[in-house]
Amino acid sequence: MEIPKHVAIIMDGNGRWAKERNLTRLAGHNEGIKTVKKVIEAAIKNKIPYLTLYAFSSENWNRPKEEVNGLMSLLNNFLEKELQLLIENKIQLKTIGRIQELPKATYQRIEDAKEKTAGFNQLTLTIALNYSSQNEIVDAVKDIVKDAKENTLSIEELDYPKLATYLDTKDLPDPDLIIRTSGEYRLSNFLLLQSAYAEIYTSPIYWPDFNQSHFTKAINQFTQRERRFGNIS
Ligand code: IPE
Ligand code: IPE
Ligand code: MG
Repeated sequence: MEIPKHVAIIMDGNGRWAKERNLTRLAGHNEGIKTVKKVIEAAIKNKIPYLTLYAFSSENWNRPKEEVNGLMSLLNNFLEKELQLLIENKIQLKTIGRIQELPKATYQRIEDAKEKTAGFNQLTLTIALNYSSQNEIVDAVKDIVKDAKENTLSIEELDYPKLATYLDTKDLPDPDLIIRTSGEYRLSNFLLLQSAYAEIYTSPIYWPDFNQSHFTKAINQFTQRERRFGNIS
């Protein structure tokens, strides 16, 4: 099989990586940012057009305030420092999730980075921030009901492709490959509808230790799989 068009990653294990080294959880997240940069490079090398990274779930607000604030400031720094890298590599930045609920300065930085990279297509990098697949579906249903009431949508004609236009991922193809690091086997509210036929690859490696060769190994394994989409071989 060909290489995946859209790879989505559940970046997990920063906290355990830090704990093993007697470091703070934030030190783990900080180290995880380095992996983000490596994986972006690896995606470009492997000619993957769409890369989506799950960075902060809507449930992650429940973590201690110190960790949440630390994650927000890491995100701010990343956007500030790496915008140039995105531009130089012709990477378009997108987000999924309720980013309007993020701290205002972060929200504005994201909007600015999106605007400045809007024309690029070497790689579409989507970051899931304050993302919950269930909330995304609820928001879509609300918009669908509204459009139906206003007669701008005919409910009889509603099918999955149409529904997909109401999701945050409307401009992205469904993911072909979902990678989760740190040896966990769950989706944790990530792209539940969009992953209907995604191949799932789990790695035991904690996110800060995940590197380009681990990424390439996942891609290579994907190319060996047979996707049947309900059909037979
Ligand atoms: C990073 O890993 C993912 C984020 C939510 C930012 P974790 O912080 O979940 O690390 P573990 O699972 O506690 O090891
Ligand atoms: C999923 O990881 C969210 C992100 C990677 C951002 P979590 O660490 O929050 O998921 P659970 O709690 O182990 O399911
Ligand atoms: Mg985790």
